Amino acid sequence: MHAPTLELFQQYFPRQPVHYAFAPGRIEFIGNHTDYNGGLVMGAAVTEGITVGVSLREDAMIHIVSDAGDLVEIPLGNYKAVKGAASWTNYPIGVTKVMADLGMATPTGYNMAVTSTLPSGAGMSSSAAFELATAKALAALYGFETDTAGFARIGRKAENEFVGMPCGILDQGVSAFGKADHLVKIDCATETFVTEPMPRGAHFWIFNSNKKHALVDSAYADRFRECHDALAQLQADYPEAKTLSEISEGQLAASKHNIDELIFLRAAHIVGENARVRKVEMALANNDLKAVGACLNQSHESSRVNFENSIEELDTLVELLKLQPSVYGARLTGGGFGGAVMALTDTNFGQAQADVIATTFEARHGLQPSIFHTQAGDGAKLLK
Ligand code: GLA
Repeated sequence: MHAPTLELFQQYFPRQPVHYAFAPGRIEFIGNHTDYNGGLVMGAAVTEGITVGVSLREDAMIHIVSDAGDLVEIPLGNYKAVKGAASWTNYPIGVTKVMADLGMATPTGYNMAVTSTLPSGAGMSSSAAFELATAKALAALYGFETDTAGFARIGRKAENEFVGMPCGILDQGVSAFGKADHLVKIDCATETFVTEPMPRGAHFWIFNSNKKHALVDSAYADRFRECHDALAQLQADYPEAKTLSEISEGQLAASKHNIDELIFLRAAHIVGENARVRKVEMALANNDLKAVGACLNQSHESSRVNFENSIEELDTLVELLKLQPSVYGARLTGGGFGGAVMALTDTNFGQAQADVIATTFEARHGLQPSIFHTQAGDGAKLLK
């Protein structure tokens, strides 16, 4: 698993890595934008991810090289987020800073080589994978201890405070707690993580639209703000509610005319998504994949209409997928505003069906989607 990382490391650094860590990307299964609203979400770690190899240096420098071929040198302790070509180093450097702030002693710097089997920009959260792999490797290298939730929180803190993305705990939580053939369910109000078995014969297919939304980060931050506005407006009627996820569907309906129209739509998405996570959990327990699929489709519809975080290309993918008899359901996965669609399928769905969808999509949008068939895999781990 770490042979390419070793090879890269040896091209740039004199010795071998002392430790290796791997962390997976994730699929957001159901529960869109609920995480930073104190809600429920289910995801799955995938088998693809990021591997880092590390060793100590003798000086006060951090040298990081990625399989894209660039070597970046950063003085130990001089942690500033950067823009431009080297901005990929914000993930490991953010993690280094968060861990140092938590008391990890770094008497000398480190060398790190990074390799990925995760398609970047595919909406599968390569950033969380990079953060978690870094945290695991540095913990081993510098003798820092925490539990699985602690590692997830380190990754999120790096992302929130260093990278500057106001994300919730979904990506890092799933990358940390993933388990082969299992979904990870997170109650974001209490930050509790449980794994639940995936039904047999269910498959994940990811269709990345390859459509890049120029303003994806600011669009995400807009929704973050609108959700907080929604809570503030609803608190006039429900002062006891501390998060949007404490508002029931009935309460929201009763307050519809007391809040702004747009704000109502945003709240309807979050409240509806929480309800759908509960429904999906029950349907999974009953092995009712048709009912699961119906919730996935409804989730996408709510993204399209209420949260407006879908785009035409993702809507096309969902519509084309829904026409296939082997598809239980499909929805955008992750933040939205571009990115990817996830489909839950039975075993009969294969490359031939995927290719039909790709061809129709390309004819309509002039873009070739990237397609992956993946499985639920294990969470972040130290390999050595
Ligand atoms: C991105 C964020 C997550 C979550 C999803 C939407 O992936 O990083 O924290 O908010 O969007 O559910």
